Amino acid sequence: MGTSIINKAGVTPVLNKLKELRHKNIYSFHALPISSYGNSDVVGNPRDKLSECLESSVTGELFDNFFFPTGIISESQTLTAKLYKADASFYITGGTSIANQIAITALYEKGQRILVDRNCHQSVHFHTQSIGADVNYLCPDLYTEDGGLSAWSYNHLEQTLLSMQQSGKACDVVILTAQSYEGIIYDIPGVLERLMAAGVSTRRFFIDEAWGSLNYFSDDTQPLTAMNISPLLEKYPDIDIICTHSSHKSLFCLRQASVIHCRGTTTLPRKIETAKYRIHTTSPSYPILASLDAAQAMMTEYGKALAAHSRTLVEKFITGISLINGLGDDAIYRGIFSSQWHIHYDPTKVIVDVSSIGTGAEIKNMLSEEKIYAKRFINNSVVFNFHIGINNEAVSTLLKAFEKISLNKNKENHFESLISDKFIIPYPPGVPLVFPGDIINKELKDKINKFRKAGLLIISA
Ligand SMILES: Cc1ncc(COP(=O)(O)O)c(C=O)c1O
Repeated sequence: MGTSIINKAGVTPVLNKLKELRHKNIYSFHALPISSYGNSDVVGNPRDKLSECLESSVTGELFDNFFFPTGIISESQTLTAKLYKADASFYITGGTSIANQIAITALYEKGQRILVDRNCHQSVHFHTQSIGADVNYLCPDLYTEDGGLSAWSYNHLEQTLLSMQQSGKACDVVILTAQSYEGIIYDIPGVLERLMAAGVSTRRFFIDEAWGSLNYFSDDTQPLTAMNISPLLEKYPDIDIICTHSSHKSLFCLRQASVIHCRGTTTLPRKIETAKYRIHTTSPSYPILASLDAAQAMMTEYGKALAAHSRTLVEKFITGISLINGLGDDAIYRGIFSSQWHIHYDPTKVIVDVSSIGTGAEIKNMLSEEKIYAKRFINNSVVFNFHIGINNEAVSTLLKAFEKISLNKNKENHFESLISDKFIIPYPPGVPLVFPGDIINKELKDKINKFRKAGLLIISA
């Protein structure tokens, strides 16, 4: 039976849903800091500067040319480049999926060979396939115990590149994802330094740092970032390196705000500019552009303070979890692949092993009833991203939610059987489930709750 939708004036299902979600005041431990409920403890209301509608159709002399800027866009991009120590930076308003396509197009020439980390985002796989590149895959060779997370070892990468060279099919471009959602950070400058010293001939690298923009603002992570390669460029001036940042994932930017940064030979910025012209929509979003500009100003002033505050909140959370009955210190999981010199763990990510109180999926759902949004769970663990939109209040709410869930679990585990002195009757059908004198054990209690949740009337008489 088909359902028919009748068009009526004023029916706005998407708008309604988004408004409803906005009014739910959800703390999002996933992404998009600007969308998480509340103000920043460091900068106040991050939406202040972006609340106006900044759409406009002007270009050229009244504004600037998005693709070949010489005025205000160029000025803002240069400020961003300085902040990230890049030779040049390019604003993208179609998300990092587009930024990745542009980066690959800028580095690749027809007929060349590319080595792609299999853990790369789909945008990399689709684009390398659609340009007809000769793609070799770097398969992960490191796995966590439960198989939920994987990574590549340095030796595996080096051996793969050297054996391609030895077989006369040297790799022209290497594509790696350096910073994963779950918090794995590869030491890119260290890896490149070792590859060069080992005699690897590849000179073009594209590093997807979609989740890593904030990592440029803290001394514990900045040395691991793709743009931090000045000594390497002095030794090997023929290296070209591009990285992409999903600014909306970790800064106060609008969704789809992304930046391409590059370092290397003098022709590289022009190649990126041309690739951007070929691939990007010809109608860039000005509100997104404005948010990228606002983000560079904010990160120049408060970047270090924001990164430091996220770390303070992680400490508060870890201390809080360690005091919760049933969770404790052992529930915090942060040292993934820590025996590998080139793998570090993002201090703003926390994985919580929730097996003592439920499965990852169950806990994620229970948290959403407490106004907490977590997206990723791996078996019995849930990933929390302490991005810059997370404030003290969000962490307290998350800890309270965990306390409540584990208290309920505790009660369930210590449920004492009772002897009923009544009939307990679900209606419909009105047939007693429990008779006076029956023992109500945990299974029976769960069954009664299940009926209640299913909407049945439970009568005790
Ligand atoms: C590693 C990585 N690269 C690229 C992207 C694509 O970013 P966007 O959603 O901005 O297109 C994602 C998205 O999750 C990602 O995780």
